[in-house]
Amino acid sequence: MKHGEIINKKPVETGLIDYEKTSKEFSWEAVKKDLFTTPQNKVNIAYEAIDKHAQTWRRNKVALYWEGAEGVYEKYTFLELKRLSDQCANMLRSLGVKKGDRVFIFLPRLPELYISMIATAKLGAIAGPMFSAFGPDAVRDRLQNSEAKVLITTPELKERVETVLFELPKLEHIVVVNSKEDHEPEEGDVCYNTLMKKASDRFEMEWLELEDPLYILYTSGTTGRPKGITHVHNDMISHYITTKWALDLRDDDIYWCTADPGWVTGTVYGLWGPWLSGISSYVYDGRFDAGKWYEIIQTYNITVWYTAPTALRMLMKGGDELVKKYDLSCLRYMCSVGEPLNPEVIRWGLKVYNLPIHDTWWQTETGAIMIANYPCIPIKPGSMGKPFPGTKAAIIDGKGNELPAGQHGLLALKPGWPSMLRAVWGDEKRFKEYFNVNGWYATGDTAYKDEDGYFWFVGRADDVINTSGHRVGPFEVESALLEHKVVAESGVIGKPDAERGEIIKAFVVLREGFKPSQELEEELKKFVRHRLAAHAYPKEIEFCSNLPKTRSGKIMRRLLKARDLGLPTGDISTLED
Ligand code: PRX
Repeated sequence: MKHGEIINKKPVETGLIDYEKTSKEFSWEAVKKDLFTTPQNKVNIAYEAIDKHAQTWRRNKVALYWEGAEGVYEKYTFLELKRLSDQCANMLRSLGVKKGDRVFIFLPRLPELYISMIATAKLGAIAGPMFSAFGPDAVRDRLQNSEAKVLITTPELKERVETVLFELPKLEHIVVVNSKEDHEPEEGDVCYNTLMKKASDRFEMEWLELEDPLYILYTSGTTGRPKGITHVHNDMISHYITTKWALDLRDDDIYWCTADPGWVTGTVYGLWGPWLSGISSYVYDGRFDAGKWYEIIQTYNITVWYTAPTALRMLMKGGDELVKKYDLSCLRYMCSVGEPLNPEVIRWGLKVYNLPIHDTWWQTETGAIMIANYPCIPIKPGSMGKPFPGTKAAIIDGKGNELPAGQHGLLALKPGWPSMLRAVWGDEKRFKEYFNVNGWYATGDTAYKDEDGYFWFVGRADDVINTSGHRVGPFEVESALLEHKVVAESGVIGKPDAERGEIIKAFVVLREGFKPSQELEEELKKFVRHRLAAHAYPKEIEFCSNLPKTRSGKIMRRLLKARDLGLPTGDISTLED
């Protein structure tokens, strides 16, 4: 099979049966009517995703199958999640949390993470989920920028960020989740378990406007600190319909999204999306292990699986023989997101799982799937698919003119879909930058469209790095390196990598008196890993005597990258010397 070749798949009976017809007739109003079964002026996503089901035949349906790394299993019905999140909402209210306050959640994928996300929404407060691999700098930046009032964490994670807590004057409470037993909290902290026991499991939901904020997820750009991408309750309209049509979820599915809620996929399709449709969702709080992952699918009868290309490439490395040891016949639909999905992975998936893998494209900012391969359209391996009904995607030039099929350009979207970012927290200027190409929303990606209307990813238009599907800003890594006493200057790029898509590579100029060495290289890696995040440290460091800069002093990462890869250096007229 060649690149671009079509895999023909028989359309199956599903929510999206005819892509062209549905796209033509599509209206967001109709989706709204389908989702909001009772007409109401006020809303709350927690009602639509949890409490509503707790009043129907779904009340005793399992909403969450949870498995911990140490072989602990739990399950929660919609009714149980309703009660626990009511209790948690009362507990947060007793700490003074009100509508609009920011509650940041720094937890492994524990049930308490999901419960507190729901509880925060019930209060009309704004949740800030943070990836548990973050280090103190990443946590400080997010809590400072959002002026979070409450942090929910574990004793272990709290210890990791202890050094920056004094820099957070707006933080009023640290709620400590100790899954083992009630523990004596440190002075000033409160114990989750103790407060939960005191709280009632009946909570009067805060009814909100569709435009009231729901969550903030910080994401990286080329420059500056991470941006607080702010989403609202209205997003649920996109969550709901994309879950049905792009992930093909149905009532009897058992669905596994492998992403952590610290990333947008884990928030949107790890909890809200499936629960809005009353689907049973599985969560594994453990590390990647090919055999374990297959065992999960077999044991829980996972039917729909949403994962990432790096994970699929790692599974492919695990080999065909391993797949044969498990009965994976329960699986019926597979999707992927976060990085380009290689055609060879799709072909391998067809061979070993007997299923095509459906690539989907979207971003933290878009809040939901924007381009996808649907069950009812043939897959062209290597393509991201077609725009979601109701979404206008285009390839444009720098002035906002639409380019014809086959021509590379900027991937842009017409603003106005329900889950579009509503703000960059506290930074109107950076928010507006998204829309400054003639009214389009500029994604920062480059791509092209083919004659059949399929979109093909080309690369990033900026310096943002995508390592294993994790978006990393070079500026953040450069800043972390500069905090080390030996570093005078640093320039950071993404270097192509067969397994991870890209790895982070840093070019470092040392201060006078320090010499490059293997030990120093390891020390710098450890330093960034510890300060910033486990996924955001440079896997490669090259020491050099100077860095290419523009006359205004900006490091030319593009040039560093071209030199590193042995590519033409392009226009270097702005180079300093
Ligand atoms: O460059 C694109 C890449 O991931 C970026 C968005 O990253 P983030 O906001 O962290 O969200 C990731 C998960 C929704 C995009 O700008 N990306 C995402 N999906 C794909 C992709 N690149 C190629 N193919 C995809 N399917």
